[in-house]
Amino acid sequence: MKEILIKIRNSILRFFYKVIFKPIFFQVDPEKVHDKMIKFGHFLGTGSFTKSLTALFFSYRNKKLEQKILGIKFNNPLGLAAGFDKNAEMTEILPRTGFGFGEIGSITGEQCKGNPKPRLWRLKKSKGLVVYYGLKNEGCEKIANKLEGKKLSVPIGISIAKTNSKKTVKLEAGIKDYVKAFKTIKNIGDFAVINISCPNTFGGTPFTQKEDLEKLLTETGKIKYEKPVFIKLPPDLTKKQIDETIKVTDRHIIDGFVCTNLTKDRENKTISRKIHEKNIPEVGGVSGKPIEELADETIKYIYKKTKGKYTIIGCGGIFSAEDAYKKIRLGASLIQQISGMIFEGPQLMSEINQGLVKLLEKDGFNNISEAVGIDNQF
Ligand SMILES: Cc1cc2nc3c(=O)[nH]c(=O)nc-3n(C[C@H](O)[C@H](O)[C@H](O)COP(=O)(O)O)c2cc1C
Repeated sequence: MKEILIKIRNSILRFFYKVIFKPIFFQVDPEKVHDKMIKFGHFLGTGSFTKSLTALFFSYRNKKLEQKILGIKFNNPLGLAAGFDKNAEMTEILPRTGFGFGEIGSITGEQCKGNPKPRLWRLKKSKGLVVYYGLKNEGCEKIANKLEGKKLSVPIGISIAKTNSKKTVKLEAGIKDYVKAFKTIKNIGDFAVINISCPNTFGGTPFTQKEDLEKLLTETGKIKYEKPVFIKLPPDLTKKQIDETIKVTDRHIIDGFVCTNLTKDRENKTISRKIHEKNIPEVGGVSGKPIEELADETIKYIYKKTKGKYTIIGCGGIFSAEDAYKKIRLGASLIQQISGMIFEGPQLMSEINQGLVKLLEKDGFNNISEAVGIDNQF
């Protein structure tokens, strides 16, 4: 009965989002909508009444979705990906919105205003976004202060990157910036993600090169950090580059990969083949459906190649329970999204989780962990 009521609730919310809210939001500048949503989410997290009301509309629990991964308990496998809650404004409300975990940031050594506006665009037909924020964030110290000592009711990952500035382009300066951020976030959150794949910063993505990554991980490895550490990869690496990356991470204490970040590739077949979006900006990286296949391929390759040694967080183009399940069956233990929620509505988290339970039951699994990598055995 409870399952049926939640299904009805979600269908009503989906209808209102598609018919009323989305057409209005999609008329407004995307960054303005993003900022308003963060403010609204922050407000909802400030009182117990607003928190309970949010949970009534959006939450979903089922034992089949619970897992313990790297010592951390997750109520469900779906997280909010990095880049939405850049400054840790939504950690109070996140658990009530249906998410099982969140990732804040990316946070950098120094405060950063980001790239000049405009810096966020919708690709309405291809169901993606072009993102050119350039790591706008309040800086590691301010954000760490906000979260220090705070008891969070879902696991929170802290994504770190190097400050988007001419000053961090040189290798040593870039590493120093990562190290500063890493040291500062040591006491907050449940895991760290080293983001080496932001496509929108001064100096590009040097740490996707094996020599530079080796130097970076040598320095971050000197910091006493006892929680899990992930590396966030771009979707555009060749198999050779992935192999080289794994060789480097094998030499360090790295627990997993987030697969993947945004694509820089404007020849991406989903954008160029099926979709004829007008005026795609030259700058920025693309999220959503255009990267789904690339992310799936990356998950598949790494899971098989490393025989499941690394925990994988799958990310890119998850718009339904089926999309999420595919990533899990390829080897992702956890999944994340942003674009899906923007295109489909805030009930999507609950829809995905409820849909996952149905898919698990159909396939005879008692728990989500039994499905991880089932289509990609080594
Ligand atoms: C508005 C926006 C901002 C983002 N900023 C970051 C960021 O700061 N750090 C990061 O690691 N990824 C960032 N990303 C990438 C997402 O975390 C995610 O990898 C990507 O959007 C693919 O997921 P999706 O298709 O569900 O959106 C951003 C994505 C979006 C849409």
